Amino acid sequence: MDRLKHFKLAAFLLVLMIALVACSSGSGGESEGSSDGKQAEEGSDQGKVKLVYARGRDTTGATQKIVDSFNKSHKNIQVELREMPADSGKQHDAYVTMLNAKSSEIDVFDVDVVWPAEFAQAGYTLPLDRFIKKDNIDLSKYNQGALSAAQFNGKQWALPRYVDAGLLFYRKDLVDKAPETWDELTKQAKNLKGKSGTDFGYVFQAKQYEGLVCNAVEFIAAYGGEILDDKGEVAINSQDSIQGLKKLVEIANADYVPGNITTFTEVESETAFIEGESVFIRNWPYQWALSNNKEKSEISGKVGVAPLPAGDEKSAAALGGWMAAINKYSEHKQAAWEFLKYLAGPKGQKIMAIEGGKAPSYTPLFEDSEVLEANPFFKNKEFVKGLDAAVSRPVAPNYQEISEIIQVNVSKAIAGQVSVEQAVKKMEQELKSAVK
Ligand code: GLC
Repeated sequence: MDRLKHFKLAAFLLVLMIALVACSSGSGGESEGSSDGKQAEEGSDQGKVKLVYARGRDTTGATQKIVDSFNKSHKNIQVELREMPADSGKQHDAYVTMLNAKSSEIDVFDVDVVWPAEFAQAGYTLPLDRFIKKDNIDLSKYNQGALSAAQFNGKQWALPRYVDAGLLFYRKDLVDKAPETWDELTKQAKNLKGKSGTDFGYVFQAKQYEGLVCNAVEFIAAYGGEILDDKGEVAINSQDSIQGLKKLVEIANADYVPGNITTFTEVESETAFIEGESVFIRNWPYQWALSNNKEKSEISGKVGVAPLPAGDEKSAAALGGWMAAINKYSEHKQAAWEFLKYLAGPKGQKIMAIEGGKAPSYTPLFEDSEVLEANPFFKNKEFVKGLDAAVSRPVAPNYQEISEIIQVNVSKAIAGQVSVEQAVKKMEQELKSAVK
């Protein structure tokens, strides 16, 4: 009996010891390895750290190429791409559900320029400052607007991967001279619709979602209005904003846009354009590479690009773009940083610019001959300056609430349920209680 008791005790102690060793060598918490993935041989069959990188659907295919290139050059880390919804708002909600539950199922994920404050405040993302310092990342080489969009409470919560700004793309085989004002665009869209098999004069993003907010920001600014003034006070109720939004509503209801334009996000618009269905499109810079991709596009070589038409004040592009952040609950934080550093660094951004047509936030790439060859309009200094001058959406930890107010009221005006004046008045009231 005694011997049995001793044996049981010894066996119990052995199990306890194994459990303790396993716990202390696990890769959780904030532990950092000294180089690529050294910290986390645990939990993977081939001794590799397995990371999941989540981002919205990438119709260009460039992201998979970055992941493949990273995996090839980093023997200890294996990154798997997880595709999230393309619609920024739906993608946002999917991350919030996961991160609210403190899930570690994704390690690195993409963050729209309008989310960092909210995600930082909610504690979803890991501040990157110590990694940046340790690896001497030169932040002065990044687009400063994009970089500061990823800062909150004095910390850097993400690194920008690319910068977006609204542009006008057109069929240069049909358009003699790109329209310089919205009035000119409406005329040309009406007259050219039907030429060369096109069904539409113009396509843009009019669905009730984040893309509509970007289009609304552009119309408001083009006619001299603003949503918040420089003190952060609600300033939307002005004749200028009303005029801008009236132009948006007029275009959304015109017979040269698809009858179902209020279901159009970037994906529906880009598809209509590359299938040769529309003369003009408002989209982000990647539309260039996609339109000229011979495998995907029917209009390769026939595309021109110009600034968005001006209202009676100026031409205004909304500032967009995506950044990469680390999930605070990731079990592989150092490896996650290694991947993020690659993705948002010169190598990842170069692949994204060449294969995906995204405008780099790492500014030296605007001097890179291969990047310029793939995207000739990046050579245009006005375009690069335009990225800096692009109009930001309001910056706030409760940006989603602000966005929702704009989406709902602008959609009602497009649907004719309320006048633009009524929509603007309602937005003013609702924004005032959201922006405190
Ligand atoms: C693009 C922009 C992003 C914006 C979204 C709206 O992805 O980069 O900032 O929120 O479009 O659809």
